[in-house]
Amino acid sequence: MNVLVTGSNGQLALTIKALFDENKKGINFIFKSKTELDITSSGNIHEFFDNNTLDYCINCAAFTNVELAETKKEEAFTINSDAVKNLALACKKQGIVLIHISTDYVFDGESCKPYKETDPTNPINVYGSSKLEGERHIMANLEQYFIIRASWLYSVFGHNFFKTVVKKINNNETMSVVNSQLGTPTSCEDLARFIFFLIYSQSRDYGLYHFAPNGETSWFGFASYIASHYKSDLIQPVGSFKTQARRPQYSVLDNSKVKAIGANIRNWQIAVDDVVIKYKEGLS
Ligand SMILES: NC(=O)c1ccc[n+]([C@@H]2O[C@H](COP(=O)([O-])OP(=O)(O)OC[C@H]3O[C@@H](n4cnc5c(N)ncnc54)[C@H](OP(=O)(O)O)[C@@H]3O)[C@@H](O)[C@H]2O)c1
Repeated sequence: MNVLVTGSNGQLALTIKALFDENKKGINFIFKSKTELDITSSGNIHEFFDNNTLDYCINCAAFTNVELAETKKEEAFTINSDAVKNLALACKKQGIVLIHISTDYVFDGESCKPYKETDPTNPINVYGSSKLEGERHIMANLEQYFIIRASWLYSVFGHNFFKTVVKKINNNETMSVVNSQLGTPTSCEDLARFIFFLIYSQSRDYGLYHFAPNGETSWFGFASYIASHYKSDLIQPVGSFKTQARRPQYSVLDNSKVKAIGANIRNWQIAVDDVVIKYKEGLS
């Protein structure tokens, strides 16, 4: 089986790559970075898909800077929407299963209970709107797809909130963190293992899934939990920050559909414990 992973320098793709040795099981993963395979180039995508026999495409490529998306709207839509349509069409032409990652930011955050896949979307920022349009292109053009909405991704790789918090703690800097937005921190490793589960089981339960660990917290709760591993009291709560992009106040994803197809789900704190250990090992 051949599996293409796009956006291979991003944190999710790097996590897939790190786990891939222990998860090979006869699968050939092909990792392509933005410079090697730009998903906005329809010509390059079709050429690559025509010249390689692929079974799955895991699209980890995206415009993920939520703040910058507000001023770079066109670029955000080109990558998160137009390019995703390209990928969907190329997958359809070759009979490839597309595994695409989307976001909790397709919701407005007005709910007070975890969002199900069937709940109405209503993004309140450019990033969320562009990701939602990407989802719609896939649904309109392809049958064999998994769209996995995830939230608050972190890992030992790339840039993410977890690493920012640990760096501040290591530098002995205090950090003010919002306590008014609720969601679920998600380890890229847990998400990667769900993706492996779909591929190894050759699941045909195509469609839209909300992937999240069990539980919910605020960004302050997340940061405080990380800090507790370092015996640090440098994290302070703050009600809100002035940002360009509006954020949903509540974006917890209901993971019951993912559980119903047999995937393993942990509590978010246990996943943080693991990543802290990995991060400390990496630094030693
Ligand atoms: N991060 C989160 O908290 C979060 C939450 C929910 C959902 N998601 C979704 O999860 C997925 C993975 O996110 P992530 O955190 O791993 O993102 P990431 O670390 O920002 O990685 C995204 C990667 O995509 C690459 N890329 C950008 N434009 C591209 C293009 N035109 N062609 C090919 N590659 C391109 C980027 O390359 P450059 O760096 O060189 O531009 C980067 O390596 C994304 O779909 C994201 O929307 C993320």
